[in-house]
Amino acid sequence: MKTYLITGGCGFIGSNFVRHLMASDKSSRIINLDKLTYAGNQQSLEDLADSSRYHFVHGDICDRTLIEGVFNDYSPDVVINFAAESHVDRSIGKPDDFIQTDVFGVFVLLEAAKDHGIDLFLQISTDEVYGSIDDGSFSETDTLMPSSPYSASKAGGDRLAYSYFVTYRIPVIVTRASNNFGPYQYPEKLIPLFVTNALEDEPLPLYGDGKNVRDWIYVNDHCSAIDFLLREGELGETYNVGGGNEKQNVDITHLILKQLEKPESLMRYVEDRKGHDQRYSLNCDKIRSMGWEPKHSFEAALEQTIEWYKSHEEWWKRLKSGEFLEFYKSYYGLELT
Ligand SMILES: NC(=O)c1ccc[n+]([C@@H]2O[C@H](COP(=O)([O-])OP(=O)(O)OC[C@H]3O[C@@H](n4cnc5c(N)ncnc54)[C@H](O)[C@@H]3O)[C@@H](O)[C@H]2O)c1
Repeated sequence: MKTYLITGGCGFIGSNFVRHLMASDKSSRIINLDKLTYAGNQQSLEDLADSSRYHFVHGDICDRTLIEGVFNDYSPDVVINFAAESHVDRSIGKPDDFIQTDVFGVFVLLEAAKDHGIDLFLQISTDEVYGSIDDGSFSETDTLMPSSPYSASKAGGDRLAYSYFVTYRIPVIVTRASNNFGPYQYPEKLIPLFVTNALEDEPLPLYGDGKNVRDWIYVNDHCSAIDFLLREGELGETYNVGGGNEKQNVDITHLILKQLEKPESLMRYVEDRKGHDQRYSLNCDKIRSMGWEPKHSFEAALEQTIEWYKSHEEWWKRLKSGEFLEFYKSYYGLELT
């Protein structure tokens, strides 16, 4: 029986991955360690609470004593680090927590892995570490040019993990995925924000001219790529994980409004994000040549995702309150009614 320490498992991708792993490796034991920041939500995994294979630990990856205790108590074979401050807009207003969790927190986990010995440390990084590209796509060996405090802190954690492979032979793999979408995503991110705003007949705030391009991957495809790399990934290597779906934000907005039969007049152009990267694009030949590919078409997965938010109002409605409303107003200059 393998023990997996999943950090940040109450967030969007982490919770989807925990559910994926519970099904894909039925003999696994999963320790989900999460600080439960505003983005962490135990409700996303409440169906697993009674499973003897699933254990939740409330804690911070920056807390060395706590992490040491978790490694002593559970002796994980595999660590997958999803824990991060993850929202670019928030990193512009207050970078502190990003540097702390996304760099120092990774250091704490790597140190514990060094002291205790593990089979694999998988660091979940992001395509944003490369920065923006006008033409072509980034390969794993391209220069990192992160341009927000979020992407710079993620680049720090990404390369720190690699340095522990080179220096201490810690069995590290790094993944850099593109923009994920799917169920259980905190409603500050573009797709769940626009879907839930549209459902409530609120304006959809589009930054700048709306023409920024992102590559989108359905979260289940990201989970299958991580699972694949747990088995097939080479230690010390970095893998781009993209969906192959490059879209302008404005195109996604049209698709959401169309499916929900809401008027285009809900679109509201707002002042651009500071330092907004124009386009992200990944060359994923490396992982694809090993046999992984995304299984979901963008259009079908977006449709399913919209349906999920439609039928899970109780999950997202309570999140769009309190501090969320202040954050929303300060970034978009709009108030939710
Ligand atoms: N969402 C995307 O599109 C995307 C794309 C590529 C990579 N990533 C990366 O994937 C990972 C997960 O992203 P997400 O969208 O699920 O993020 P999220 O913000 O939804 O979830 C982050 C989780 O980490 C927890 N957390 C934060 N700080 C912590 C700390 N100090 N200690 C323990 N737990 C802590 C939060 O409580 C939350 O549950 C992140 O590392 C992110 O950089 C995300």
